Amino acid sequence: MSAPGGESVALSASFVVFGATGDLAHRKLYPALASLAAESQLPRRLTVIGVARTVMTDEDFATEVHNAVAKAGDGDASGRQNALEQRGVRFRYVNGSFDDDATFRGIADAVSDSEADHGGPGNALYYLATIPQMFGAVAAGLGKVGLAEEGPGIFRRLVVEKPFGNDLESARALDVALHEHFREHQVFRIDHYLAKETVQNILALRFTNTIFEPLWNRRYVDHVQITVAEQLGVEHRGTFYERSGALRDIVQNHLLQVLAITAMEPPASLGANSIRDEKVKVLRSIRPIERSDLRRRVVRGQYTGGRIEGVDVPGYREEEGVASDSAVETYLALELDIDNWRWSGVPFYLRTGKRLPRRVTEIALRYRPVPFLPLPPSAVETVEPNTMVLRIQPDEGITLEFAAKVPGARFRVREVDLDFRYGTAFEERAPEAYERVLGDAFLGDATLFIRGDEVEEAWRVVQPLIDSFEAGEPPVAFYPAGTWGPPEADALLAESYGDTWRAP
Ligand SMILES: NC(=O)c1ccc[n+]([C@@H]2O[C@H](COP(=O)([O-])OP(=O)(O)OC[C@H]3O[C@@H](n4cnc5c(N)ncnc54)[C@H](OP(=O)(O)O)[C@@H]3O)[C@@H](O)[C@H]2O)c1
Repeated sequence: MSAPGGESVALSASFVVFGATGDLAHRKLYPALASLAAESQLPRRLTVIGVARTVMTDEDFATEVHNAVAKAGDGDASGRQNALEQRGVRFRYVNGSFDDDATFRGIADAVSDSEADHGGPGNALYYLATIPQMFGAVAAGLGKVGLAEEGPGIFRRLVVEKPFGNDLESARALDVALHEHFREHQVFRIDHYLAKETVQNILALRFTNTIFEPLWNRRYVDHVQITVAEQLGVEHRGTFYERSGALRDIVQNHLLQVLAITAMEPPASLGANSIRDEKVKVLRSIRPIERSDLRRRVVRGQYTGGRIEGVDVPGYREEEGVASDSAVETYLALELDIDNWRWSGVPFYLRTGKRLPRRVTEIALRYRPVPFLPLPPSAVETVEPNTMVLRIQPDEGITLEFAAKVPGARFRVREVDLDFRYGTAFEERAPEAYERVLGDAFLGDATLFIRGDEVEEAWRVVQPLIDSFEAGEPPVAFYPAGTWGPPEADALLAESYGDTWRAP
């Protein structure tokens, strides 16, 4: 099987899941693995080695994986289960703690058994599906038993889940810890947003068409709005969210990655390093928000109790694991400037929140108004400046909003939409984000993974906000669950720009 870049899947490999009993492994990794098996996108000889502290046999582990695939329930679960069996995927389980050298000796034994079975070289893909506090320990443990070393024709890759650090300093420290044993080309940092088809389509839209790119700059674009709205609250993750908040959970990674892809210059190729070179330049060009500008350019919100789709839901402070006086933000709106030739003077408005009316992720490029409208106001029904909306989820697609004449004897104009929908335009199946991530990691295609310098630049952008939030600035504004955030967020756009947030 060949990737678009021409890479081929190795004939044999060990896939080592650190955190084999965890939520991510069960809900995402095992179903993704089975889908890859069904699509013949796995190494022909594969041993999955699960590692965690829970005591289990190899057979128990194999049963857990099969049950997780069945439970995932989307699409053809039994077909995918069968695919794992038909492809002869083997299962091993090593029980032990990641801070114990014996665990890594056990893993080394399992990897060498799998090599003996496969009769192939010792390719290994390690997946850190465990708590972030253990990322450094796992890299060190692998290094100590020689499992980080590549050889001629042998890969050893480390897939790192988010979060990559908790602030600029810890992200740098984690990078140093990983690089003690792994070289940068071996490290695959996940941002599953990049694996979404519609995020990748931004590249196709911009760089394989003639008509969009000339309009993709400060001459025509008035401002850009990027929205990542969630309808869910913190669910059972209150304790985790108290340490994270919207800034670390969404802005530092997903929102800044989407912004970088939207704002980047055309890359030399669609290869991993070309794309990542351009993204990191955008991140470097983001102007840090000064303390004196904070209240004008940042709105920090938290949901109170409210109603969503007719159901009463509690406020954030009433959620399990959340302090009754918590000042953690569940909503964040920011105005960012990109200091470069393409975007100087074009504000990028970013917003994300929990318990908003709908789950939606979209990018809207709002174009400048026409210099002069040769019509009396009575002839204009509803005309907003042209807007191009890239819908990442749900209802993936692109809409171009423009004005058209209303049929009839009088000359009147009204806004209309030109719509492209993925669901109806293509019959091909879009792989789930984790299927893509895992498939690319087996292939060694790093395009959709984040390079170390990108992570660092993203933390550089958000670190001043972390510091200010810890000092209580700006104060938290409250919004009832089921609304589009605090009124202060509307003021952010209206005051700075005289415009409004789009109603997605
Ligand atoms: N869950 C998601 O939807 C999701 C989404 C995006 C990113 N992530 C990221 O994915 C990672 C895993 O998240 P998760 O939700 O799956 O966490 P989780 O359910 O708490 O699972 C953690 C796993 O790590 C193992 N573990 C923890 N400490 C260990 C130790 N000292 N030694 C050996 N094993 C240890 C646990 O197994 P034992 O208790 O059996 O040892 C368990 O298998 C995190 O970095 C998270 O941020 C998760």
